[in-house]
Amino acid sequence: MDERLNGLKIPTHVAVILDGNGRWAKGKGLPRTMGHVQGAKNIEDMMYVFDELGVKYFTAYAFSTENWKRSEDEVNAIMVLLKNHLAAGFKKAAKNNVRIRMIGERTRLSKEIQKLIADLEEDTKNNTGLQFQLAVNYGSRDEIVRMMRDTAVKIKEGIILPEDINEKYISDNLDTKDIPDPDLMIRTSGEQRISNYLLWQIAYSELYFTPCYWPDFNKEELIKAIVEYNNRDRRYGNAK
Ligand code: IPE
Ligand code: IPE
Ligand code: MG
Repeated sequence: MDERLNGLKIPTHVAVILDGNGRWAKGKGLPRTMGHVQGAKNIEDMMYVFDELGVKYFTAYAFSTENWKRSEDEVNAIMVLLKNHLAAGFKKAAKNNVRIRMIGERTRLSKEIQKLIADLEEDTKNNTGLQFQLAVNYGSRDEIVRMMRDTAVKIKEGIILPEDINEKYISDNLDTKDIPDPDLMIRTSGEQRISNYLLWQIAYSELYFTPCYWPDFNKEELIKAIVEYNNRDRRYGNAK
């Protein structure tokens, strides 16, 4: 453990909007896809850093419901990377006691990717180390729409009553069920917006923005974010 963290509160759950892969590549005269290659590798490297620093939950926004609007070449390159990482590095993490889950709508992903995800979730369900969530084809509004439809069906079929719906019900029926709300939300690359990420869940999260591009985000940067988090005067913690 780094001595700069001595006596500091470590956030239980850190959600990251990993942004800036394209600009990172552009700055080096490389194609955008090289930024995604580095960015994807950095997710794996950072899993171990989050774990080392004592963060229990790490949720990474890798691909949004809006990202399908990018060029076909870029989307395809990201999907190939996703498949390769699920099959290799994430499998390795699974052996290192990391629990892996996916949040987002899965049916739009290829059957092969869906199977890799389902297998990782099943194989790691009893792992007690870092709890890692990958947000793929994730959009907070889409997540809420899916939850609402499911709820409407349950009411129609008499499984629940309208008065059974409360804040806990909603938290328990989003993709993040069983996962505490983020204490800290980090966005890299200098953009200061939420881009449809975890809208319900971040109601009281501290927000931290850094100009660092995601492929350069490392242990030093995470320590800076945790130090800053400790300077905040949090009013309300987790709802769960
Ligand atoms: C984040 O990097 C990764 C994804 C959204 C897939 P970007 O691809 O958004 O990089 P910039 O924002 O164009 O630099
Ligand atoms: C947000 O980044 C989504 C992910 C990091 C996966 P974007 O780069 O896609 O978001 P906008 O377009 O800047 O809002
Ligand atoms: Mg971006």
